[in-house]
Amino acid sequence: MNSAIDPTRVAELNVREEAAYMATRPKGIAMWERAKRSMPNGVPMSWLRNSYQPVPMFVAEGAGSRFRDVDGHEYVDFNIADMSMFTGYAPKPVVLAVSRAVVAGSQFMLPNEDSIWVAEELQRRYGLPKWQFTLSATGANTEAIRVARTATGRERVLFFDGHYHGHFDEALVTLSDGVLVADEEGLPQDVTSRSVIAPFNDVEALIRMLADRSIAAVVTEPALTNNVGLVMPDSGFHAVLRTATREAGTLLIIDETHTQVVGPGGLSARWGLEPDFVTIGKSIAAGIPLGAYGMTEQVAEVLERPAGRDDPKALVATGGTLFGNPLSMAAAKAAMGEVLTPAAYKTSQDHGAQLADGFTRLVGAAGLPWSVHRFWPRSGLSFTSELPRSGAAALAAIDVPLRRLSRVYLANRGVWDAIVGAGPTCSVATTDADVDQYLGAFAELLTELHR
Ligand SMILES: Cc1ncc(COP(=O)(O)O)c(C=O)c1O
Repeated sequence: MNSAIDPTRVAELNVREEAAYMATRPKGIAMWERAKRSMPNGVPMSWLRNSYQPVPMFVAEGAGSRFRDVDGHEYVDFNIADMSMFTGYAPKPVVLAVSRAVVAGSQFMLPNEDSIWVAEELQRRYGLPKWQFTLSATGANTEAIRVARTATGRERVLFFDGHYHGHFDEALVTLSDGVLVADEEGLPQDVTSRSVIAPFNDVEALIRMLADRSIAAVVTEPALTNNVGLVMPDSGFHAVLRTATREAGTLLIIDETHTQVVGPGGLSARWGLEPDFVTIGKSIAAGIPLGAYGMTEQVAEVLERPAGRDDPKALVATGGTLFGNPLSMAAAKAAMGEVLTPAAYKTSQDHGAQLADGFTRLVGAAGLPWSVHRFWPRSGLSFTSELPRSGAAALAAIDVPLRRLSRVYLANRGVWDAIVGAGPTCSVATTDADVDQYLGAFAELLTELHR
């Protein structure tokens, strides 16, 4: 909880703002009523209902940094579909490339030349020589783990507390009072038997957990960016992680699905990390479904079957009918080749810094004991005086009612910050005016909270 803010005031404002939101979204609400008759919770993925109070938003269209809902309200988007639209909406080069790909045949289940270009570009950006494709980051992590199991002959996977790597069984585990449990319903009873969770930034615990040499892979984001806001690694953490995994014969999977937004090659390139795998998805193809994983030559060896079907080697469980399809490849080529340029990353980082400066100024002026993080195109607040160093500390700092108020308050002022805890992220399409609009609405919220 957040002692600096009066919870009664938060609740009061929330009632007012949710009522205002509902009153001005009649078409969206009517669509939701209709949708409830054909989809659980009236949404294509039932969990979306939990994310968006008071009612789910139905979207019409978007361009650049903005989109419109079905009621005609325009929003400047600072969550950019949980980072998957870091390119901005409908970037011209991607629209053209994808249109051409549809006309030329969007699916053959055969390799094409664009897939070579995309693999070569990922090679150049992330420094790993061999790449494979899926349709999502979840798929990339799932397959990277299978390859790691084959390469090491081990089963278990280590994640850090506060992790999120997608919706696959092994990763959907969490610590509850120190006991590993399934995070959600529908998972097999023994789901916890193949996963281990270590506290982030705790090198002693990490080394201890790797010591019995039973862990096939450590899977981590270079900095935790998910359910817990942002947790940065301590200085030296990655060096220990790399040495300790090598010593234990454990492979290191760095998930750059979110952190790719910090520049070409993500944090792996920025921090000179040396993972055995990089996994990625989301904005890599401007939101057209594509996941990818890169790996060292040594690891890739388990997938190589020079004689094809005649090769005596066992098959690793990978692949899907639509993986690596020409549409995804065309989108990735246009996104990386023409939209996610060094200049575009720089612009997004300048805007991220402007946001962080604004937060620092506003929080300072309000005398709130909150800290501000700076993460290249992304910034945000932690309701604690120091930035958290572990997933557990970050989780404890979350103020759910304040987050909920913040989202609807900003939405009523044309600012979409869908996952408030994530911290606003600037896309490459964000403008100075967009940043000003965010900070203006946020300043208004702080003033009202203190009234
Ligand atoms: C770090 C990370 N990895 C993997 C995923 C899974 O991505 P997807 O849901 O697109 O498969 C996410 C999604 O939020 C993520 O943040």
